[in-house]
This record gives sequence, C-alpha cells and structure tokens, in this order.
Amino acid sequence: MADNIAKLELPGNDSIDLPIKKGTEGFDVIDISTLGKKGYFTFDPGFLATASCESAITYIDGEQGILLHRGYPIEQLATESTYLDLCYLLLYGELPTKDAFDEFETTVKQHTMVHDQIVYFFRGFRRDAHPMAMLCGVTGALSAFYQDSLDVNNPSHRKIAAFRLVSKMPTIAAMCYKFSVGQPFIYPRNDLSYAGNFLSMMFATPCEEYKVNPVVEKAMDRIFVLHADHEQNASTSTVRLAGSSGANPFACIAAGIASLWGPAHGGANEACLQMLEEIGSVDRIPEYIEKAKDKNDPFRLMGFGHRVYKNFDPRAKVMRETCHEVLQELKVVDPLLDVAMELERIALEDEYFISKKLYPNVDFYSGIIMKAIGIPTSMFTVLFALSRTVGWISHWKEMLDQPGHKISRPRQLYTGDSARDFVSVDKR
Ligand code: SDX
Repeated sequence: MADNIAKLELPGNDSIDLPIKKGTEGFDVIDISTLGKKGYFTFDPGFLATASCESAITYIDGEQGILLHRGYPIEQLATESTYLDLCYLLLYGELPTKDAFDEFETTVKQHTMVHDQIVYFFRGFRRDAHPMAMLCGVTGALSAFYQDSLDVNNPSHRKIAAFRLVSKMPTIAAMCYKFSVGQPFIYPRNDLSYAGNFLSMMFATPCEEYKVNPVVEKAMDRIFVLHADHEQNASTSTVRLAGSSGANPFACIAAGIASLWGPAHGGANEACLQMLEEIGSVDRIPEYIEKAKDKNDPFRLMGFGHRVYKNFDPRAKVMRETCHEVLQELKVVDPLLDVAMELERIALEDEYFISKKLYPNVDFYSGIIMKAIGIPTSMFTVLFALSRTVGWISHWKEMLDQPGHKISRPRQLYTGDSARDFVSVDKR
C-alpha cells in the first residue's frame, strides 16, 4: 500500500482509501473529508485526535516539550525577542528587519487610544464586575466603532483590525482594572514600550509621575511573549470557528476571550492562585494531592496538566526562572511561592502525576509573578487574553488568507428519538 494512503475496512466488505497528508513537523494526518460518501462520520469529542486546519504559525511537540513560533523555539524568543517583535513574526511569518519593526511599532502606537465613547460602556458595569466580563463586552463592542475594519473580505480592513486589536487590548485591559478599583483611566503613553505603557495605564495615577520598573517591565513583556500563541487551543479554535462564518474580527476576539475565561483553559492562572491560597501552607499539600487523585472529587490541581504537553511545558520552565528573578528583584517574600514550589516537588515525585504525565503548565508560575507585580488575581486571565490576542488574530488572518476556506460546521452522532407524531396536550 502507498505510504500516503490509509485503507479503512468498512462493514459489508466495503473499504475506502483515505489520503495521508504530511506536515513539516509532527503527526501526519488522515484526510477523512470523503468519508461521508460512505455514510460515515468520524467521532472525536474534545478533538483529541482531530486536526481542524492546516497552519504554519505554531508547532507543539507535547512529548518532547517543544514549542516553536514560525520555527523559532519559545526559549530563544522569551529571552532574546520582545512581545512586539513576536507579534510581527506571528502575523507575517518572519522576524522584522529594524526598519520594518520601527514601522510596525509606530503603527501600533498610533492606535493605542480607544474611542472616547468607550468610556460610557464602563459606566454601565457594576464596580465589582469581573474584569473578564468587562473585557469580553467592550471588545465585542469595538464592532460598533470601527466600520473600516469590519469587512473580512477586504485585506486593508483585516490589516487595520489586527493593528487596532493588538494596540487597544492593553488600553481596554487597564481600563477594566482602573474601573474595578475606582481610579481614573490613564491614557496610553507612546513614549513607553508596549509592556511599560501597559504598566503605566494600570498603576499610574494623575497625581504623580509614574516610573516603570525595568525588571517588572521585562517580566511583563516576557509574560506576554509566553502567552502569545499556542496552536489550536480551545480559544484559538473558537476564534477560527467564529471567523469561518465571516463574523467581524472584534466579535471573533470577544468569542476567544469568552472561551479563554474557563478555568480549564486561561482561567487556570486565576484558579491556581485561588487554589494556592486555599491550600495556604505546605503542611496541607498532601491533603490536596489526595483530593486531586480522588476520582469522586472534582478538585484538580490548577496549573497542572495539559492536553498536549505530556512533558514539562517549555513556557513553564521560562516562567519559573522569571518568577524567581522578579521575587528576588522586588524582594517579595511570598509564602504562596513556598507552597507552589513544594507542590511542584511533591507532584513531580508522585506516581499518580508521573503516570498521567501531569506537569506544571504555563499558568502555574504566571499567577505568582503577576501577584508579585501587584496585578490582582481577577486580572490574570485578562492579561492572558491581552497577550493571546495576537495569536488569535494571526490564526484568524491565516484562515481568511487560505483560498477556499469554508464555514466550520462539525457533524454529530445523533442519539435522540427517531421521528414520532405530535400529541396534543389534552391527549398526553
Ligand atoms: C491552558 O490547549 C492549550 O494549549 C491551552 C494553553 C494555551 O496556551 O492555550 O496551554 C493554556 O489552558 C493550560 C491548561 C490550564 N488548565 C489547568 O491548569 C486546569 C487543570 N488541568 C486540567 O483541567 C487538565 O489537565 C486539562 C484540562 C488542562 C487537560 O485535560 P485533558 O487533556 O482533557 O486531560 P484529562 O482531563 O482527560 O486528564 C487526563 C487524566 C484524567 O485522569 P483519568 O480520567 O485518566 O483517570 O489526568 C487527570 C484527569 O483526572 N488530570 C488531573 C489534572 N489534569 C488531568 N488530575 C489532577 N489534577 C490535574 N490538574
């Protein structure tokens, strides 16, 4: 049999030859798109073994703990690149020359302000609204303002939408925080770096000059780099699915934010800190390890495990180093870090976690760094969404650039009632 064909034997002495498609890295895929003509669909709830698309943006090898963005290892990008440099790479496929970067950065800076009417959306929220609720709502509402970015079939609309989202997400994210603490919104400052400007909008006040701490600025930029993209995760797949119907980019990103909010996904960093606070001290760790193993207990160790990584998440390794740098520089003594480090040690030696290949993931350390920087727990997933916006937009752009892309519309295994006649209420 040709090594690029999979032969599927079917009942009734039938069979079908399915083409095998090869990528540049990773698993080959069996193209099952013609299976319908034989009267069958495939069945893969949660898409554990299903490739939904062809992509050239990010490659993950879960067994080896490898993460590449356009071929560049995350370890090199996290230590030698910057978030805006990575944004250019994810969006356009190549690292920018100095001139190209300067032009890109200038354009990003020209879109950091939001329409002044956006302020009134915040007036409608309760002060104690979850920042993710506000971020999701306001991001979707951008569709009401930027009419020259809504036509997904117009390349110039797609380009300006990408810039507006990368530029405005920090501004909106900081507005969510300022609104929740009752402080005035701080305008963007184009004399600062992307991360420095975000810190300024978060922590500056009109009362005094705000100085960006270079260690915190570098840690913030690294957190953005480490969360920027991650292949076809739940929120990116949500953005692709929404975008496949032709929905405008702001609506698609709002859908991605909603999906990321879940505690099994981007909400895990917030849930991880809450878990560490609930555990409270090192001596209570064994009790929680047992809860995590108990099949009847819904408790899971937040920040552990991953659908793809069955080895250490390479982002967690970099995040762990950054965590220690920040705490050392800021002279923060955080008892939760002691709990986190002991939890990591115990979990990595425990047979249950070893057998199930459950390692700390990116969310395990990011929460501790953000807490040390002064970011409230409720804002952790907002920062994840801020960073992941460029990944979502890159996948949305890649999908629309692919000729012949179709609306995504999975099928199902129907297990409901067969056809039956209606019975009027007086006869039931
Ligand atoms: C992110 O997809 C991405 O790329 C996501 C992300 C990105 O950058 O976009 O990397 C970001 O979402 C990271 C993951 C953050 N989530 C958490 O930290 C929440 C805790 N982790 C789990 O909920 C879980 O590990 C998932 C959801 C991350 C992955 O779940 P899977 O792949 O569906 O695996 P599973 O739930 O089937 O677990 C396999 C086994 C199960 O035991 P069995 O049924 O086989 O006996 O491992 C157990 C699970 O019970 N298990 C855990 C566990 N995670 C899985 N047990 C205890 N604690 C955990 N954290």
